[in-house]
Amino acid sequence: MPSVSGQTVCVTGAGGFIASWMVKLLLQKGYTVRGTVRNPDDPKNSHLRQLEGAEERLTLCKSDLLDYQSLREAIDGCDGVFHTASPVTDDPFYYGFCDMGLMAASVFDLKEEMVEPAVNGTKNVIIAAAEVKVRRVVFTSSIGAVTMDPNRSPDAVVDESCWSDLEFCKSTKMYRDSGFHLLEQERLDPLSGYSKRPLSSLIVWWRRAYDRETGDPYSGYPIPLSRSSPVPKPLSTTRSKHGSGSSPNWYCYGKAVAEQAASNEAKERGVDLVVVNPVLVLGPLLQPTLNASIIHVLKYLNGSAKTYANSVQAYVDVKDVALAHILVFENPSASGRYLCAESVLHRGDVVEILAKLFPEYPIPTKCKDETKPRIKPYKFSNQKLKDLGLEFTPVRQSLYDTVKSLQEKGHLPIHSQHDESILRIQS
Ligand SMILES: NC(=O)c1ccc[n+]([C@@H]2O[C@H](COP(=O)([O-])OP(=O)(O)OC[C@H]3O[C@@H](n4cnc5c(N)ncnc54)[C@H](OP(=O)(O)O)[C@@H]3O)[C@@H](O)[C@H]2O)c1
Repeated sequence: MPSVSGQTVCVTGAGGFIASWMVKLLLQKGYTVRGTVRNPDDPKNSHLRQLEGAEERLTLCKSDLLDYQSLREAIDGCDGVFHTASPVTDDPFYYGFCDMGLMAASVFDLKEEMVEPAVNGTKNVIIAAAEVKVRRVVFTSSIGAVTMDPNRSPDAVVDESCWSDLEFCKSTKMYRDSGFHLLEQERLDPLSGYSKRPLSSLIVWWRRAYDRETGDPYSGYPIPLSRSSPVPKPLSTTRSKHGSGSSPNWYCYGKAVAEQAASNEAKERGVDLVVVNPVLVLGPLLQPTLNASIIHVLKYLNGSAKTYANSVQAYVDVKDVALAHILVFENPSASGRYLCAESVLHRGDVVEILAKLFPEYPIPTKCKDETKPRIKPYKFSNQKLKDLGLEFTPVRQSLYDTVKSLQEKGHLPIHSQHDESILRIQS
């Protein structure tokens, strides 16, 4: 990579999965980096200080997306901003409840948790960038702002011109095939859908029950109860209008509204904004904790998913996503949106690849919905990023690297067939 010195850039949510890779690559390239984190002293951010060049050129700034002044201070004096921070969740603390037919929205105010920081936080970033005259802002949007459109033809090629339908996002069910069926055993109020237990005891109960069922306390989701992100607020009143078993997709809704808000705000204030829309991101973790998209793979390895869904998903490697952000920042002619995707696979293909690479894990072999025809992958174009020189990592390699990283970070037990999997990825 050519070296860049003398430029200072800000990365919001620096301790996250994607942002950590951005910080690493930016430091490697010679940039001075200001990373915003909510708590610089949290051990979950300590990996950032170990990165090459961090001692000399990385500063961690305490900042919350909803605290404008803290963002402005972090961004002031920067040539560029990579706005990546956003609530992202596949967290069992949220979605575990959805899978059980209990609405997340009826337990937690998910809309408030997901949408407000995404949208208002993004507006804050653009306003601050305009005030301090940043050269370019790169915003991490999502495939969630692109594909959620019921009117798109199955033969259409998904590209940067596609936009999610906000009403559709609000009306769709969040679907998770992660096997959080254990909470079904929990007693729920049949009328309200609310748990009769306080939230904290419900979480502790869930974790114990999970460990009991798997027989391996290590195989559950090792998310510490004392994690620093706030436990979502229980709602004490209104029942969700969306009916039992479904909950609006506030994540995709929030990302789509945030991207639109970023674009409008940037236009109005004369900010040069470029957007990257990654699909589901896999690959090696730098941070010590799990993130949502990695749980997507972990659940197929630790026995928590007994079946796989009849659905498709697009994938991309985390290093490619980080590099895509830097490419669009550095390339003066870059503009608009950039779809960041390597391939679209059916879940059946994902488990097949995993089973070939890592047969030692209890990877599901049955589809949850065998009676219906297999959903076909959609077509997409990643040409805009290829034109900037990005060479995408094949998904098979990303899956392999994800599992190896989960093992190295202690999220998955290592079984004996270690060396054989290296041979399998090479063949
Ligand atoms: N991973 C994917 O598959 C994927 C796909 C498409 C798009 N994206 C987008 O990529 C970005 C990063 O995702 P990721 O997978 O790297 O997620 P991640 O590891 O969960 O990181 C998210 C980061 O956002 C920060 N954050 C959340 N709410 C915040 C708030 N109110 N104020 C300040 N910081 C806040 C978190 O900080 P704390 O550590 O303090 O909680 C965390 O550092 C997100 O914008 C996401 O929508 C991700």
